[in-house]
Amino acid sequence: MQDFLKLASERYSVRKYSDKEIEDEKLDKILKAGQIGPTANNSQPQRIFVIKSRDALEKIRFLTPYAFNAPVVLMICYDENVSGNARDGHDYGADDATIATAQMMLEAWDLGIGSVWVRGYDKRELEKLFDLPDNLVSVALLPIGYPSDKSKPSPLHSRNIGIDEMVTYL
Ligand SMILES: Cc1cc2nc3c(=O)[nH]c(=O)nc-3n(C[C@H](O)[C@H](O)[C@H](O)COP(=O)(O)O)c2cc1C
Repeated sequence: MQDFLKLASERYSVRKYSDKEIEDEKLDKILKAGQIGPTANNSQPQRIFVIKSRDALEKIRFLTPYAFNAPVVLMICYDENVSGNARDGHDYGADDATIATAQMMLEAWDLGIGSVWVRGYDKRELEKLFDLPDNLVSVALLPIGYPSDKSKPSPLHSRNIGIDEMVTYL
């Protein structure tokens, strides 16, 4: 079993992908990781679209340069008819979908598959492009694929704030 902190610290955002296809069993494992995370009240509002066909990949690459040349792009959404609300009205949907995305990112890395979290697109355009119904809210794109030989971590990858800056003990 891999050491979790080693896995989490070695993962970096991959923005150059090889031509190698992702095996179906590995894609299934990545999607499984998105299924089993915690969600508020176990409402499981996360909905994941696998952008894999040539037509769908062309559409997403037209919308954003941040799909890169990944062979598969996951579009992570939540269903606001299903997600729960906190007492103050906060909708948990984005929290739940975010956890699913993080789990998929780390499972992919464990399988030798790279990814990059993407939110640098116009949400309204994305939702229109794929005709999402009003109750589906997009949260992130996750291009995934085997890293190219030329892939390397960006300088931002190793720029971490100090634990003292991040943590306050009360
Ligand atoms: C919410 C969020 C949005 C992001 N959006 C983009 C994006 O649109 N394009 C991109 O290339 N990277 C994007 N990233 C990746 C970050 O730039 C990257 O995670 C950060 O620089 C740290 O690098 P590392 O992932 O290699 O450790 C995003 C990351 C997060 C968490």
